[in-house]
Amino acid sequence: MGIRLQDIAAQNAPIQDQLEAALTRVLRRGQFILGPEVEGLEREIATYCGARHGIGVASGTDALMLALAAAGVGRGDEVITTSFTYVATAQAVTHLGARPVFVDIDPKTWCIDPERVARAVTRRTKAILPVHLFGQLADMGAIQQIALRRNLAVIEDSAQAIGATQHGQGACSIGAMGCLSFYPTKNLGACGDGGMIVTNSDEFAEKLRLLRVHGRANGYFYLLDGFNSRLDEIQAAFLRVKMNGLADYTRLRQRNAGIYDQMLADVPMIQRPFVAPGNTHVYHQYSIVAERRDDLREHLKAKGIDSAIFYPLPLHQQAIYQKIHRGRLPIAEQVAQSILALPIAPEVVNEDAVRTVAEAVRGFYKS
Ligand SMILES: Cc1ncc(COP(=O)(O)O)c(C=O)c1O
Repeated sequence: MGIRLQDIAAQNAPIQDQLEAALTRVLRRGQFILGPEVEGLEREIATYCGARHGIGVASGTDALMLALAAAGVGRGDEVITTSFTYVATAQAVTHLGARPVFVDIDPKTWCIDPERVARAVTRRTKAILPVHLFGQLADMGAIQQIALRRNLAVIEDSAQAIGATQHGQGACSIGAMGCLSFYPTKNLGACGDGGMIVTNSDEFAEKLRLLRVHGRANGYFYLLDGFNSRLDEIQAAFLRVKMNGLADYTRLRQRNAGIYDQMLADVPMIQRPFVAPGNTHVYHQYSIVAERRDDLREHLKAKGIDSAIFYPLPLHQQAIYQKIHRGRLPIAEQVAQSILALPIAPEVVNEDAVRTVAEAVRGFYKS
């Protein structure tokens, strides 16, 4: 038996009965789109993130798109974001007719570099969209300062970072709005697509609740030109069960990361995840920047150990964005060429298995 990167069925097996009971509860009730489960989950997640409101939507991508729309982003506007992220971050911007302005990353955290954000602001900039990559917050203090000075909205892409904190403040609770994804492989995963916007603003919350149902006020009367993007009751009921175990699940990810950190500390060919001062990391991924990355990956594969590359090509170099971006972003380009995610999810690696993976990495550089 090899070591996989993730095993959703194994993750859910210990709580199978509770999950089935939750699904049955919804089936029996017969209310499937928005309802008591979604409302309950919205309260529970807002509290978990340390914010006032949660607004359940159909996916993380939609959460970003609706948050940007609520902040007034539209045709002709610019949104500053990182090039080193999942494509959804930028597509949420382009779906609204706005333009993502890609900037380079910090070489240690691999999150957006605030100094480059400051230099990218123009009179068309409407929002800043930092991504809390792999489970740790971007430098929100510096980003909020820029936003305040230039009157910009900050929307936190927290798809990978539920539960992560910076100086005690939770992901999603610092910017104007924060966006979560419940894609099944995320730290909090549904049994399908789902997402949520979290905010402290009563005004944004109210607007988002309209936006997700076509902008409807009541009956067949519309206040905004909105979307159809709602979280369904099945997903919410499933997620409420999984929420109960999220803190423990996160602690196990952090324990696994601690073992990697210890065992790989003296391997100079590797750059381990750097946790910035004041941050807690929830390790959606444990990625390393590794010399001879592709050979290392082959070496692990030969030993039955899966690994993955997030992300092999930064967004500014993707074919779909060639028309909107010119120039190099050297740090993102360099990191993309040598980054590798090791198994971290507790359902696939216990302490012994993490040691096995770490030994295999060490063995590669010794040979
Ligand atoms: C950084 C980031 N942003 C946005 C998304 C989009 O979320 P979803 O797949 O739920 O639409 C994801 C994950 O898929 C992500 O990793």
